Amino acid sequence: MAAHSYSLFLFSLSFVVLIPTLQAHIAEYDDYWKARKLEAIENLNKAYHPNPEEMVHHYNDQFAKTMIKLNNTRRVLKGTKENGPCEITNPVDSCWRCDPNWEKNRKRLADCAPGFARGTTGGKEGEFYVVTDPSDDILNPKPGTLRHAVIQRRPLWITFKRSMIITLEQELIITSNKTIDARGANVQIAKGAGITVQFVKNVIIHGLHIHHIITGTGGTIRDAEDHFGLRTASDGDGISVFGATNIWLDHLSVTNCSDGLIDVIEGSTAVTISNCHFTDHNEVLLFGASDSYTGDQKMQITVALNHFGKGLVERMPRCRHGFIHVVNNDYTHWLMYAIGGSRNPTIISQGNRYTASSTLASREVTKRVYAPPEVWKKWNWISEGDHFENGAFFVSSGDPKASKKYGIDKMMPFNPGEMAPKLTQYAGTLNCKPGKPC
Ligand SMILES: *[C@@H]1O[C@H](CO)[C@@H](O)[C@H](O)[C@H]1NC(C)=O
Ligand SMILES: *[C@@H]1O[C@H](CO)[C@@H](O)[C@H](O)[C@H]1NC(C)=O
Ligand SMILES: *[C@@H]1O[C@H](CO)[C@@H](O)[C@H](O)[C@H]1NC(C)=O
Repeated sequence: MAAHSYSLFLFSLSFVVLIPTLQAHIAEYDDYWKARKLEAIENLNKAYHPNPEEMVHHYNDQFAKTMIKLNNTRRVLKGTKENGPCEITNPVDSCWRCDPNWEKNRKRLADCAPGFARGTTGGKEGEFYVVTDPSDDILNPKPGTLRHAVIQRRPLWITFKRSMIITLEQELIITSNKTIDARGANVQIAKGAGITVQFVKNVIIHGLHIHHIITGTGGTIRDAEDHFGLRTASDGDGISVFGATNIWLDHLSVTNCSDGLIDVIEGSTAVTISNCHFTDHNEVLLFGASDSYTGDQKMQITVALNHFGKGLVERMPRCRHGFIHVVNNDYTHWLMYAIGGSRNPTIISQGNRYTASSTLASREVTKRVYAPPEVWKKWNWISEGDHFENGAFFVSSGDPKASKKYGIDKMMPFNPGEMAPKLTQYAGTLNCKPGKPC
């Protein structure tokens, strides 16, 4: 037992030393951050799923069950769509969205994480923390502010008293076991620094508008109740997930940030990005930032039920290493490409709708970089049940039997790409009112 944990410790240490890491924006790598990083590497190894195809399978299974329900519900609700009962449009939302008492049952959301982030509970075990004050102080955050909430050591379920615009002075550094739940308010993280989810585990972020995020200058930032440290400049991503595991990002509306909208990098896994609405941006989602960082081979991410909307250019997502399940998203706009990658990522694309846009844009969904065809032909990029409009096409590669290898043939009939617009109809933030279904 002791010997085992000792060798695990040694393994972790060598992992830290041998693998080059990107700048973590931590200017003072003190004991606090060293410990957090070691913990993160252990979390990565624990959260990594040796059989990712099982998770794909599970997702589709859940989906199929919900679709049966959806079919039945539609029959029951015939003719009452407009002002009638809440419409179940997808399996993730069906978990909670039609409950008129959603506000009293907020923590129900913690049971709903789909895909690789399944089991992510955020602040479920904690008290509620109500944000009342949109101001921001990076070193001595005032009680009632979002920054004060996210640096607390204990698990917390964070909600908002009212609608507000929060302009972050510098990146917001979130600690483990937190849910940010903006349902019932219009909460905008805007015109300041973005959100950093670094070397932590178990975080849910739901219902935020995130836009016009700019580069932070860095500085001395409080990142825990009892710790602060010097950070270098932040990149200007909407959300940066860095060496973090069990992260669920749901129903976010994200647009126009100075770097990426969402980055998932440096040994992050068990991540799901669902029900989000992305618009007006060049480089949308980056999964893995370094070709040489092989820690990202353990990266496993589900991208489900998102609407990739107007004004997008590329990277939806752009992947290195890892296993990426892209399912039932609606792509209505890209200029360069939708899904790209290098360094042998596995990409399972199922039931998406890909609509090529103008004549100026590329109609090819996929793009491989830094590898000649004889190399990328071996990468498993599989398209199943996708729907293509306006000449869009997906270039598959890898073992043509890879779908069998991944168990896709055994999966329940998944939802055809034609349904993606319906399934993603409520992507982005929801307008939830207490006492009514969202
Ligand atoms: C739902 O209904 C449609 C149309 O009748 C049918 O094609 C589809 O197979 C049904 N889905 C499920 C999961 O039963
Ligand atoms: C998060 O919660 C889990 C379960 O309660 C606990 O074991 C873990 O130590 C917490 N993590 C942190 C960093 O507080
Ligand atoms: C993003 O916002 C900036 C500043 O408001 C604006 O100048 C730019 O045109 C916007 N970019 C897109 C792609 O909408």
